Amino acid sequence: MKFFHFIILFIMLMSITTLSQCHVDNDHNLKHAPKKRTYIIHMDESNKPTVFNDHLNWYESSLKSVSDSANMLYTYTDVIHGFSTRLSPKEAEQLKKQLGVVSVVPEIRYELHTTGTPEFLGLGNTKAFLSGSDKLSNLVIGVLDTGAWPESQSYHDEGLGPIPSSWKGKCEVGPSFNSSSCNKKLVGARFFYRGYEERTGRRLDKNSDSKSPRDEGGHGTHTSTTAAGSPVSGANLFGYASGTASGMAPTARVAAYKVCWNGGCYGSDVIAAVDKAIQDGVHVLSMSFGGVAREYYADSVAIAAFAATARGIVVSASAGNGGPWSQSLSNVAPWFITVGASTIDRDFPGYVRVGNGKLFEGISSLYPGKPLQGEWILIVDGYNASEKTEDGAYCLPGSLVPEKVAGKIVICNRGRNTRAQKSLVVEDSGGAAMIFVNDRRSYKEELVTDADFVPTIALSLKKGDAIRSYLNSVANPIATIVVEGTKLAVQPSPVVATFSSRGPNSVTPEVLKPDVLAPGVNILAAWTGKVGPTGLYRDTRQVSFNIISGTSMSCPHVTGLAALIKSVHPEWSPAAIKSALMTTAYWTYKNGETIQDAVTGNPATPFEYGAGHVDPVAALDPGLVYDLTLQDYIWFLCVSDYTTEQIKTVTNRNVNCKYAKRKYSLQNFNYPSFAVPFEYSTDNASITVKYTRILTNVGAPATYKVVVSQVESAKISVNPESLTFVEANQKLAYTVTFAAGSKPSSTSQFARLEWSDGKHIVGSPIAFTWS
Ligand SMILES: *[C@@H]1O[C@H](CO)[C@@H](O)[C@H](O)[C@H]1NC(C)=O
Ligand SMILES: *[C@@H]1O[C@H](CO)[C@@H](O)[C@H](O)[C@H]1NC(C)=O
Ligand SMILES: *[C@@H]1O[C@H](CO)[C@@H](O)[C@H](O)[C@H]1NC(C)=O
Repeated sequence: MKFFHFIILFIMLMSITTLSQCHVDNDHNLKHAPKKRTYIIHMDESNKPTVFNDHLNWYESSLKSVSDSANMLYTYTDVIHGFSTRLSPKEAEQLKKQLGVVSVVPEIRYELHTTGTPEFLGLGNTKAFLSGSDKLSNLVIGVLDTGAWPESQSYHDEGLGPIPSSWKGKCEVGPSFNSSSCNKKLVGARFFYRGYEERTGRRLDKNSDSKSPRDEGGHGTHTSTTAAGSPVSGANLFGYASGTASGMAPTARVAAYKVCWNGGCYGSDVIAAVDKAIQDGVHVLSMSFGGVAREYYADSVAIAAFAATARGIVVSASAGNGGPWSQSLSNVAPWFITVGASTIDRDFPGYVRVGNGKLFEGISSLYPGKPLQGEWILIVDGYNASEKTEDGAYCLPGSLVPEKVAGKIVICNRGRNTRAQKSLVVEDSGGAAMIFVNDRRSYKEELVTDADFVPTIALSLKKGDAIRSYLNSVANPIATIVVEGTKLAVQPSPVVATFSSRGPNSVTPEVLKPDVLAPGVNILAAWTGKVGPTGLYRDTRQVSFNIISGTSMSCPHVTGLAALIKSVHPEWSPAAIKSALMTTAYWTYKNGETIQDAVTGNPATPFEYGAGHVDPVAALDPGLVYDLTLQDYIWFLCVSDYTTEQIKTVTNRNVNCKYAKRKYSLQNFNYPSFAVPFEYSTDNASITVKYTRILTNVGAPATYKVVVSQVESAKISVNPESLTFVEANQKLAYTVTFAAGSKPSSTSQFARLEWSDGKHIVGSPIAFTWS
């Protein structure tokens, strides 16, 4: 099942990413050499034998005892104590037995989660954040990604004061990046490539991605400027989405940590980068990449995020582009803010009119040239214009017969390759325009756009089918395409994106994920000057801004918002900031209807939207928060049935779980949402479970009363039903009892629990699953 999900995730990533990446993994190519892998070795520093002067000597000696030839890629000091190196499986086994070695974990390869938002979030003309504006410019947002394109206007530093004195980071130089590439906005830039080079067997040189912090793929420039780009007026892509482009936290500083290369982001590089980010003094970290959800001790991204959170750094991560399948989430550890993607209220409408007069509305491509605008031409299905019909249906490279498509509008299915590549295939074969139709398997209604090479309209599956039946009903089918530019105030919005990964949480079913939704469809932000907007090598168009989609885009929105909240409430912990974002999130439209899921057009559930869509202004004044300390996260691991070694691998500490195992449980882990998995035995006996939560008052003294909705198959009761806070920072506990009767017909049901003092609503989703 896991493997199946991985394949699906991989296919989805391929179809959504705009970076043309080459997925070569040398581990599979080294047929004749002894099969080595990269491992991350966690050491127990308290076990260092006294004969060694320092840790490095000790690590080297341990390594030499199992392999003469192995070199250390990195030594780690902050995220973990230990190092990374290449070993054969046998050497790894031997190393595990050495004194002081906690664990030897194979490195994971992670993938980027790609596929005017401040106004949409209600930040347009609010003064709510003014009190934090000076403090905001003292905060540094670290972005782990493909680096930065420093010439982008979005990194201009006009009006910014001196670099905060707390900042200890560096502007590392390389072939195309010098110390003047950084400024008072881009205050730090580093690159981490050893894991990438070792794993792929490639060497960074003149012909490769730059061996420097320079972003040649565009992804890192887009995400970091979404989080904290300086305002740039007149930003647009080929005239579309024109307006002022600004990051969520426009005066916060950016530090770029380049860990993602053409081919992925490698665990040994990620740990090295977070080691440095901690030493440099970042305040918030953004990670728009991930892999399949796995146990936390085997996941370098989760381990790095744990170390950062333990030091008070807020970590926001993308939920993944594995939708619409369930259990497709990445980055599910409870210390992440896990961000799903939804649409905004901006669209690029266009329509197709066919020979019989029928009109089909959809989304137009972001095409720079002259569109057809009413000119009638022949239309053909890629399926009928190819020798390999299935490939032709998806307009794969080399599949279209030029004589059959020249001068025509070509219908291409969504999926299998990127939309931009299909449009390039149509152009190469002499086609005049493209109709991009959602395919039968998944997307149905959701429409995404791209900077295509021919005029294009994206249509839903149903509309595509209608056009196909017209095509097959006449001898010479004709059609025309009209593009309508940029449309604002589109309703309904937000809608959960089809590609946004969904719960339940496959690692810890008791913790609901994702946490929140944020904008991730057709997002405008700064771009690299190295590749065109589609990221295809053939795309030589230069753009300053690009419009792309993915949970990669939703994550940095929340990163920037976390910085805004921290600037107003510098004393809040990462968990308090997350709680504020979650309990104030909205999950209905203004008319009271639940946010829709693009997959079905039906109401979405907390497995898609978590606590809901972020509402940054409300998050500044949540009333109450569910706080968590480092101790809570450690106890969480204790009661997750991990071994001492596994807990030490995650936490880099020696932990005694005796107390936690007596007094603590997953049900008492103070998370701002509830996930209640019921396991049924064959006798259908009713099951009752109790969850305890502790609320901290971050507002004025007040009495809060609880309201909880009910579901058909479980009774929910809260005790006490009223909580009176008489002072700031006071903590009060309550218990929720979930009593399930017989097994229901559906496998999941959802409810909601809200505390209110008449002024604030502190809301939590509840998700039940039966298995
Ligand atoms: C640094 O790069 C900029 C822009 O590429 C260039 O103008 C400048 O001369 C370079 N400075 C140094 C010291 O190499
Ligand atoms: C396209 O192919 C389908 C399936 O073979 C066929 O039913 C249809 O008639 C073809 N359409 C045209 C216009 O040739
Ligand atoms: C359990 O409940 C299900 C659904 O109500 C029913 O079909 C089944 O027969 C019950 N099993 C037992 C052992 O009572």
